[in-house]
Amino acid sequence: MGWMTWNYFGDNINEKEIREMADAMVSSGMLKLGYNHLFIDDGWQGGRDNRNNIIADSKKFPSGIKALADYVHSKGLKLGIYSDAAMLTCAGYTASLNFEEQDANTFASWGIDYLKYDYCGAPDDMETAKTRYKKIADALRKSGHDIALGICEWGERQPWLWGGQAGGQLWRTTADVRDKWKSLKPVKNRSELHGTGAGILDIVDYSWEYASYAGPGHWNDMDMLVVGLYGKKGPSGDLGGVGCTDTEYQSQMSLWSVLNSPLAATNDVRNMSAETKRILLNDEVIAINQDVLGKQAVCKIKNELWSIFVKPLANGDSVIAILNRSGSTQSSKINFAELGLNETYEIKDLWEHKVVGKGKKWNGKVKSHETKMFRLKKI
Ligand code: GLA
Repeated sequence: MGWMTWNYFGDNINEKEIREMADAMVSSGMLKLGYNHLFIDDGWQGGRDNRNNIIADSKKFPSGIKALADYVHSKGLKLGIYSDAAMLTCAGYTASLNFEEQDANTFASWGIDYLKYDYCGAPDDMETAKTRYKKIADALRKSGHDIALGICEWGERQPWLWGGQAGGQLWRTTADVRDKWKSLKPVKNRSELHGTGAGILDIVDYSWEYASYAGPGHWNDMDMLVVGLYGKKGPSGDLGGVGCTDTEYQSQMSLWSVLNSPLAATNDVRNMSAETKRILLNDEVIAINQDVLGKQAVCKIKNELWSIFVKPLANGDSVIAILNRSGSTQSSKINFAELGLNETYEIKDLWEHKVVGKGKKWNGKVKSHETKMFRLKKI
């Protein structure tokens, strides 16, 4: 869990604002709830020095990354950084191909805790992807510093099949999520997600199937939480978002939580609305995402109106997430037995924070694009 620079700042980042974000992650209560990584995304790089060491852009980061890492660590946060398995990153900055060991050692010397490693500009085939990710994973391990590896390949080379073995702790399932409910054009296949700019629903539809590949230490990454962006253009301009309603943001938080995606916010955490805080800081929902059993929810029902997911928890409880995909409020009548849940339960609504019933079923209304989340305890 954490906060990532990309969807709000793009490559227009600097150390002053990143420090402010670190402060806000502490003062808002995010850190306490588990958002303990600050991830610097693309745009920090300033090329290489005369010994080929990768260096930060000295205008954006005049004190250097080591000083920033020290600051972030002093707040109790970990620091992530970004590179790519080619000569240049997605946004055209210096990347790590052929400098894997040297860059891993540099990151280690700065005290970096996490590397997001992208695949822009690299060859299409799966074998090369595996080889390049393994190379950086080995280099990180060899650096002697504990640095987690996030594989930022957009699902086109099926990283769920090999990402763990290559040494990654997580892998993206799709191209980038944007601040919208769904793509404005219909998405016919995975590779179109990139061109059209995927929304929350598109990402879910292209991610839920890989539940069996996820587990402790190796997760499906559905990209950032766009919660709280509200269609605002960040300092880098518009990354393709039109904004979502709070109901839709609440759905993203619910679905990312049951599907065990890493929770990486990307909004301006210095200025959060009460609704954004209510969504990002819901401790009962976060507990579902972080449950130690580490079982990703399985999709039990999917049709034009509904997607319904079930996730088992370590203490024997189950969570159901009921998404209304349609454009209007729908009435739902669910017998838990249809979902494979055959006991009698106490039903807790994790957004209302209260027990809403007892029994073997739930009947109620779900708003357009809303996701209800219920924790079921056997009684
Ligand atoms: C890719 C990634 C994004 C971001 C940008 C940076 O698009 O998927 O998450 O890191 O590159 O250029």
